[in-house]
Amino acid sequence: MIIAIDGPTASGKGTIAKRVADHYALKRLDTGALYRAVALAVLDAGADPTDPAAALAAARALDPAAIDKTRIRSGAVGTAASLVAAMPAVRAELLALQRRFAADPAGAVLDGRDIATVICPEADVKLYVTASLEERARRRWRELEARGEPTDLLALTAEIAARDARDAARPVSPLVQAPDAHLLDTTGLSIDEAAAAARRIIDGARRARP
Ligand code: C5P
Repeated sequence: MIIAIDGPTASGKGTIAKRVADHYALKRLDTGALYRAVALAVLDAGADPTDPAAALAAARALDPAAIDKTRIRSGAVGTAASLVAAMPAVRAELLALQRRFAADPAGAVLDGRDIATVICPEADVKLYVTASLEERARRRWRELEARGEPTDLLALTAEIAARDARDAARPVSPLVQAPDAHLLDTTGLSIDEAAAAARRIIDGARRARP
C-alpha cells in the first residue's frame, strides 16, 4: 500500500505521516527533508539558494542517510528549501530517489507537496492535509520557540503565506490538491484527532477499493 500525503507547511502532514506509517507498519519518506537538505548544503557552501548551478550541485551530492535532521528544521532553511524546490533540475534530480522509495513492494508513506500528483500518482490512498494560515503560523511559531529561535508571529505568518504562494504558483510540481485526494483540515484538531481522522480516511479508502 502506498499512502501519499501532501499539504502546505505546518499543516500537520509530517506528524500524520509518521503516525500513519507506525500504525500500518510502513516505512516513511519525508520528502520536504530532501529539499531542506539541498538548501542547507547550498547555504553551508556560502552559495545563494536562488543560484540554479549551486542548487543542482547540492542535489546531485545529496546523501539522504547523512541529512542533519536538526539543522534542516530552521526557518532560514525552510525558506531556502522552497527556492531550490522551484527549480525543475533540482526536482528532476530528486525524483528517482523518491520513486525508488515508493516502489518497495512492502509499501510506503511519502509526504510532501507533489506526491499524489507527480511522484506517486498511482498511490492507493491520497490525503491532502491543510489548516488555516493562522493556525499553521502559530504551530510553526511554537516549534521555532521550542528550538530557541523566537520569531515574530506576524512576520512568520507573512513568511509562510509567501512560501505557500511560491509553492502553489511555481510551474513545476506546484502544491495542489489532487482531484482524487481526500481533504483533511486539521485546524482545531489535536495531533491524536488528526491522526485518527487520517486512519479513518485510509481504512475507508481501502475498504472501497475494488
Ligand atoms: O514540508 P517542508 O516544509 O519541510 O518542505 C520544505 C519546502 O520543500 C517546501 O516549502 C516546498 O517548497 C519544498 N517541497 C517540495 N516538494 C516536496 C516537499 C517539499 O517542493 N515534495
